[in-house]
Amino acid sequence: AAVRRYKWEVKYEYKSQDCVKKLVLTINGRTPGPTIRAKRGDTVIVQLKNSLLTENVAIHWHGIRQIGTPWADGTEGVTQCPILSGDTFTYQFLVDRAGTYMYHAHYGMQREAGLYGSLRVALPDGESEPFSYDYDRSIILNDWYHKSAYEQATGLSSIPFQWVGEPQSLLIQGKGQFNCSLATPETGACNATNPECSRYVITFVPGKTYRLRIGSLTALSALSFEIEGHNMTVVEADGHYVDPFVVKNLFIYSGETYSVIVKADQDPSRNYWAVSKIVSRSGNTTNGLAIINYYPNHPKRSPPTRPPAGPEWNDTKSRQDQSLSIKSHPNFIHSPPQTSDRVIVLLNTQNEINGRRRWSVNNVSFNLPHTPYLIALKERLGHSFDQTPPPDGYNTTTYDIFKAQDNTNATSSNSIYRLKFNSVVDLILQNAQTMNKNKSDSETHPWHLHGHDFWVLGYGEGKFNKSTDPQKYNLVNPIMKNTVPVHRFGWTALRFRADNPGTWAFHCHIESHFYMGMGIVLEEGIEKVGKLPSSIMGCGDTKGYRRP
Ligand code: C2O
Ligand code: CU
Repeated sequence: AAVRRYKWEVKYEYKSQDCVKKLVLTINGRTPGPTIRAKRGDTVIVQLKNSLLTENVAIHWHGIRQIGTPWADGTEGVTQCPILSGDTFTYQFLVDRAGTYMYHAHYGMQREAGLYGSLRVALPDGESEPFSYDYDRSIILNDWYHKSAYEQATGLSSIPFQWVGEPQSLLIQGKGQFNCSLATPETGACNATNPECSRYVITFVPGKTYRLRIGSLTALSALSFEIEGHNMTVVEADGHYVDPFVVKNLFIYSGETYSVIVKADQDPSRNYWAVSKIVSRSGNTTNGLAIINYYPNHPKRSPPTRPPAGPEWNDTKSRQDQSLSIKSHPNFIHSPPQTSDRVIVLLNTQNEINGRRRWSVNNVSFNLPHTPYLIALKERLGHSFDQTPPPDGYNTTTYDIFKAQDNTNATSSNSIYRLKFNSVVDLILQNAQTMNKNKSDSETHPWHLHGHDFWVLGYGEGKFNKSTDPQKYNLVNPIMKNTVPVHRFGWTALRFRADNPGTWAFHCHIESHFYMGMGIVLEEGIEKVGKLPSSIMGCGDTKGYRRP
């Protein structure tokens, strides 16, 4: 196994990714940042220099379980103190499973300022995938706002509440095109001919087969991705082989990754559109477009056809159907434990707490503490966070998930769930009506678990029934994932084994939702965690702390 070393410098630069000039967080001058390429079993070492003038940073390796290195998870407030402006911090971890992963900032709402990239882990030499292809490409889909992450965060925590709204653009591998004729003085400088916002191009050699590794790191949007005139065969999801199935459009939620196989088997005399489109929310964000360039046509030549319109935004059924189609590849089934030791039902609601709009789980809205949990627990730094455990469920007899509720008993807390080491835990995500009293309204939330993959045992509509729904679980060939949607007014059932010593976030991957409290933290086997590196310390109660 090899050691892959990277030297990164994080700073702000002006970029015009969607033709509108804006301050963007870059790594070595780029956004998306450099792609990390490794082979299974390799060690990745990233030496990160924070060259932001007055801002801290932390980077999370999304999908990497960090077995034995929970301090390298990069989650500010959970596993480390933020990296101070001017400091250099070294992340070191093992990539123990082949697959498609990502990295991104995990501090405040920094992710959506452009700090993200791809992390691709190949099989060791001599092993082969259960599918074949000639070329391998990584693409990250994103949505894009013209307002800074700071302005957005300020609006979200203001009274009255100012919602971030729908994004201005959709980016494909960091490139989009805002229509400059819609620019207002507030928008900023818009230049449609800036080469930074030329369309992203993927070149196809006719007759060849492509593996596209598609990840989404949207701040808000659920997306549909499609390639005009081509079907896609889904073969991998979040690092696990899928029982292959064919789609025309791939639904993808923030935090998910998929590999699809595409054959360049269409008329080679022209180019084709690749389209990303917002689904599950209505708005007027224009679709993201990239060019699939059939070699040797000119890569910039626009396809002669209009881009496909994509599915209707409110076609929930097709999205649910795709979720249900994702099963483990028959030759790579990791059988789930048939029973669990603990069931935690997590009701997702919108609340108002002290006049502020928040998201809550079982009426508890999550706040990050000043002292990261990993350090506070491992080094027994006293009660630096609320010790009352959060509830394992909600009152299912009195709470009507279809009705807007006042949730007057909602609170804010930084308390966490402490799990018995090696126990089997079911997490049931329960969706509900938002605070909107005027219409039926429930949002799709993609939930991401750090430190583990979970088995996706089932999805259902309406209120989860503890006695009958588990009988319908797929205990035969469920896919394992690290991110999964809970659909509107529905539930999603997950199972995992709490066998990775550390403290791990589980949260909605919508940047503003997590910022507004939509998450929890789990602890397991803290006494088994090895010696913490002092580089993760320096904030909160760890400030004066000296390792004995
Ligand atoms: Cu990709 Cu905690 O996030
Ligand atoms: Cu959410």
